[in-house]
Amino acid sequence: MNKSIVYGLGLITMLAVCLYLVVSMNRLQKQVDKLKNQQTFTTAHSEEDEEDGETGEKEKDDDEEVELAIYMNRLQLYTNKLWFAAKNKNWELASFYLEEAEETMEEVAEDDIVEDGIRINEQMKTWGIPAIEPLEKAIESKDLKNVELEYTNLITNCNGCHTATKHSFIKIKIPDTPAFTNQVY
Ligand code: HEC
Repeated sequence: MNKSIVYGLGLITMLAVCLYLVVSMNRLQKQVDKLKNQQTFTTAHSEEDEEDGETGEKEKDDDEEVELAIYMNRLQLYTNKLWFAAKNKNWELASFYLEEAEETMEEVAEDDIVEDGIRINEQMKTWGIPAIEPLEKAIESKDLKNVELEYTNLITNCNGCHTATKHSFIKIKIPDTPAFTNQVY
């Protein structure tokens, strides 16, 4: 073999090795980042759990917190849609969303969720569910003024529960615009 071919092959091999190293390091860095993230997540939660005195149920608590936020997302969405259905006197749609909100609240009330030592399910029975029936009646009566009154009461109860569960910084209000623009109210 001629010298320059050997030289060339050597160079190509070195480049390939370098490329391999760069790719591997990248992969390792990603792995490290992932582990770091997991660690902060676990640490944050075990601190909370120590306060609750429920260290044994850490994983369950994590799931519950995720779920509770999802239930709340749904409540926020249903109550947003409910308002515009009611404003347009679309009573059938309004009562549909109220039922969806009620079902969501009932799911929370049936779950054994404890956050910061507070029984969320019990709070739901105190603040959430009692506000449903008066609004249901108001929708049945098809009296917009009455519906607006009971809707306001429901929102006051959302916030009452947020305060009772140490989340007073989450304030719900009567919506200005629909959450989605691709639905007819
Ligand atoms: C059981 C009491 C209770 C009631 C009643 C309640 N909430 Fe909540 N809400 C909570 C708690 C507790 C959190 C914090 C959840 C968490 O820690 O992830 C929360 C969080 C939220 C959030 C923040 C989550 C997010 O995705 O931005 C929204 C929005 C929300 N609630 C909307 C509502 C609406 C709308 C109502 C009324 C229709 C309502 N909530 C009624 C207890 C309640």
